[in-house]
Amino acid sequence: MPDAETRTVASTPALLASLDPLLREWLPRQRWFAGKGRPVTGFSLVAATELLPCTARLGLVHVLLRAHQPEVPAPAAPEHPGDCYQLLIGVREALPPRLAPALIGHVRQGPLTGRTVYDALYDTRPAEVVLEALRSRARVGGLRFERDPEQEIRAGLAPRLMTAEQSNSSVVYGDTFILKLLRRIVPGVHPDLELPLALARAGCPRVPAPTAWMVADLAGETWVLGVLQPYLQGAADGWELALRELAKGEDFAAEARELGRATAEVHTALAAALPTVTLGRGHLERMAAQMTERLDHAVRAVPALLPYAPGLRSAYTALGSLAAEGRTWTAQRVHGDLHLGQCLRSPSGQWSLIDFEGEPAKPLAERRLPQPPARDIAGMLRSFDYAAHAADAPPPGWAATCRAAYCTGYAQVSGVDPRTDPVLLRACETDKAVYEVVYEARHRPDWLPVPLSAARRLAASEPA
Ligand SMILES: Nc1ncnc2c1ncn2[C@@H]1O[C@H](COP(=O)(O)OP(=O)(O)OP(=O)(O)O)[C@@H](O)[C@H]1O
Ligand SMILES: [Mg+2]
Repeated sequence: MPDAETRTVASTPALLASLDPLLREWLPRQRWFAGKGRPVTGFSLVAATELLPCTARLGLVHVLLRAHQPEVPAPAAPEHPGDCYQLLIGVREALPPRLAPALIGHVRQGPLTGRTVYDALYDTRPAEVVLEALRSRARVGGLRFERDPEQEIRAGLAPRLMTAEQSNSSVVYGDTFILKLLRRIVPGVHPDLELPLALARAGCPRVPAPTAWMVADLAGETWVLGVLQPYLQGAADGWELALRELAKGEDFAAEARELGRATAEVHTALAAALPTVTLGRGHLERMAAQMTERLDHAVRAVPALLPYAPGLRSAYTALGSLAAEGRTWTAQRVHGDLHLGQCLRSPSGQWSLIDFEGEPAKPLAERRLPQPPARDIAGMLRSFDYAAHAADAPPPGWAATCRAAYCTGYAQVSGVDPRTDPVLLRACETDKAVYEVVYEARHRPDWLPVPLSAARRLAASEPA
């Protein structure tokens, strides 16, 4: 890796002159670009760090930049500085055919004129450079590569970029490790590192323990950039497995029960490792009010929800009423976006939970707030419902059986059956279904009937 003196191209602000016109075309096309539908009017460079000199045959620059999109919706406008993205930019004379999908463009101005730039995660050598930096706990510019001193990383593990659709980018190294490189980055403690680290330190085996991680120290703040974890070789995710069983007309109850057990183990460990709070009347009334607000917004956005609105609202008033009677709940750190796709089953049958980043659209501080565990449970219950709807001919009662088995498994480990707290569970499930209605109406209208049918069911079920 070059030392400070040889870091030339990346340290000049002129680097942006080379990249700007190309990134305007390329960035909005990326799956992980969060500002879809709004034009990018420019960029500002937050940091650029040369990892391989750009003057060499193969150059590599780590870039953090903000994309300016002036039509950021209120309340973030007008002072919103734009989302910050992490890019690893490779620089070559020309791309070999195997790297064609990685092309960003041919540079026509600025310091890289005449060269070709591309998404370097597709390329072997740049991905090796990142792993080597993690292995050796390198410091380059503002980049800090850290490794758990107890864990070794073998040299020479061959990288391959995962090609599945995802909101970040992951590279698998020799079927031994997986590096998740966060694409839209934010300053502060990131739950995708914080929670797996806390769980690993608490001895919870349900989460692949972070082996190494990379951060940027910028303007007095730490930004988490990526996390390396053991790769669960041969694992299949819960969504895939559930659909496979559904296609065969098989039930999924035994797996659902195991998933309930795994969730309860993670919740128990998180409650022990990180602070919990008691949610009293004021807090719960605010929570119910926020849920009601989201429902009102959803009804305005998706009028098909209107007939169910009074019934759905009753789920929140029931929660408010229990709070007014003095009922309290314990809130703790939770997964934050739990569904079948976030659960991996190893060939040995062991379930692990992954992807603790929460809902990326929410501010980091909000994602790190303690929540009732029922939030995660509601997410999984909704997920069984989605799986059943994705099948051509689900066996009757398939989702209901999974839901019951999941709660049973959860109770076996935690000692608390989520069904014994129906008001909270219904409120959380309703809030989730309302979110899904808005999401599907906007992004996947074919799926809208799934949360709408849940809304119908939840609106009709009497508060206990
Ligand atoms: N430790 C692991 N072992 C094996 N595969 C893994 C592991 N971690 C993640 N994966 C695979 O990588 C995929 C993406 O991981 P992850 O969900 O953390 O990324 P993401 O960018 O947050 O995805 P999404 O956009 O779905 O939220 C997972 O669905 C899973 O298939
Ligand atoms: Mg994610």
